Amino acid sequence: MAKTWFHFPTAESLCAGAKELGVDDVVAADADSAPLFEPVVVGGRKIGNRLAIHPMEGCDGGLDGKPGELTWRRWIRFGAGGCKLIWGEAVAILEEGRANPRQLWLHEGSVDEMARMVEATRKAHREAWGANACDDLLIGCQLTHSGRYSYRRPLIVQRDPALDAATLVPGPGGGKIPMPADYPVLSDDDLKRIEDQYLAAAKLAMKCGFDFLDLKQCHRYLCSELLASHTRPGPYGGSLENRTRLQRNIFGRIRSELGKSAMLATRINMFDAVPYMKGADNIGTPRPYTTPYKWSWGVNENNPLEPDLREPRQYIGMMKDLGVAVINLSMGNPYSNPHYGRPNEKPPLDAYENPEHPLIGVARHFRLAAELQRAYPDLPMIGTGYSWLQHHFIACAAANVRRGMIAIAGVGRGAFAYPDFVKDLKEKGHIDDKQVCIAVSSCTALMRAKGNELGQFPSGCVPKDKFYGPIYRYAINAFNKGNKPGTVNSADVEHEKK
Ligand SMILES: Cc1cc2nc3c(=O)[nH]c(=O)nc-3n(C[C@H](O)[C@H](O)[C@H](O)COP(=O)(O)O)c2cc1C
Repeated sequence: MAKTWFHFPTAESLCAGAKELGVDDVVAADADSAPLFEPVVVGGRKIGNRLAIHPMEGCDGGLDGKPGELTWRRWIRFGAGGCKLIWGEAVAILEEGRANPRQLWLHEGSVDEMARMVEATRKAHREAWGANACDDLLIGCQLTHSGRYSYRRPLIVQRDPALDAATLVPGPGGGKIPMPADYPVLSDDDLKRIEDQYLAAAKLAMKCGFDFLDLKQCHRYLCSELLASHTRPGPYGGSLENRTRLQRNIFGRIRSELGKSAMLATRINMFDAVPYMKGADNIGTPRPYTTPYKWSWGVNENNPLEPDLREPRQYIGMMKDLGVAVINLSMGNPYSNPHYGRPNEKPPLDAYENPEHPLIGVARHFRLAAELQRAYPDLPMIGTGYSWLQHHFIACAAANVRRGMIAIAGVGRGAFAYPDFVKDLKEKGHIDDKQVCIAVSSCTALMRAKGNELGQFPSGCVPKDKFYGPIYRYAINAFNKGNKPGTVNSADVEHEKK
């Protein structure tokens, strides 16, 4: 019987739970949501509220990288919803850097369709909120290279003993094998080419009409793994200057080649922790590691389960000097330690059971984000970790904003479940308890499900968005049959079209 962690019907019970767990210094709930509706200036643009939608990939584009029918549906729902900052999902800068075959991918052939979708998102916002509503709305594009998590084959920037042990690579005969000892690391020249590709994609993203460009540096994709590359020799490893070289070059070149019209942004890990695996009773436990730990970012190298924000703080200062105007704070690795980034009630299908109370995970997000936001009070930051709080997420966001712990609160899974929560909050004065995310990880299960003709199922909210229930059942069926990416399973595709 799965453990129930969330037993907090009232704000009082949530605060009592936080006290019991020793996190009442950071977890608080305010009944008054007014602080969330105070405008905030981001990169010289006033935005109308302090509620953001985090990047949430639906894995529902075409094999050609263009948005698909479900991508459009999702973006339009986000546009109509009322958050004034829509942080668009991961968009690959290169086909070989996609995390799955349906991830959006920016190239000459996809730019027009992407531009139409961005415009349709604005139109939906205007229709729901009035003719001038887009004046204080920002929509961003998250530029990504998936690095180690590229779907065709891992493209790594350093060898990492604990992560390599959990990384599979294509083997002879089409199967997957453990990463061999001589598996290649991307060369310095490869990284220079990737830098050029980021520039090319940034130019295309501006043609799509995005307001800001996010250089994704979180969740251990390529630029995030680079931040942790203490053991890589040469110009991209070792010192903080080297580990941030590629990213700083990209920011600098976007600024010099595209001018100030391109607002710079980044989503960055505050803390990577270490990879986990299933331990006794399937409970998550760290994979074996040695210290000093040289393979993560934002950790105490003598105890990498403990955050050390000295470098993240310093690097944020460097990015601010380069003109980065807004920072979205996250943590962890969704493949190897998902409980850090996405506190959950029930783990994803392939993951371990929670090694800690999810409220401790939420509190870690709030505490670390507050430390960084308070270090740079005039640089707006967006916090993560709100969805597991269910119907308390607005009250906790309001308390954090009121206390100056964060400028803007973002929701990820919560926006899949309930994209128009701002509308209810404004019109009724409260959100609808029945529509909130319950963090049972079915959206992540869909992301992991590959057994259809396209090699990837689309992701969405199974419990709260009726559309995804049947897709989920087909996906789990395919998962249980052991179907591998690329196998033909037309029934799934036909079903999805209906
Ligand atoms: C289905 C799914 C898709 C996601 N896609 C992205 C993405 O494209 N880019 C990104 O930075 N994070 C992505 N995330 C992480 C979320 O943005 C967010 O950090 C995470 O869900 C925790 O926030 P929450 O508690 O509000 O859900 C994704 C998460 C899920 C579950």
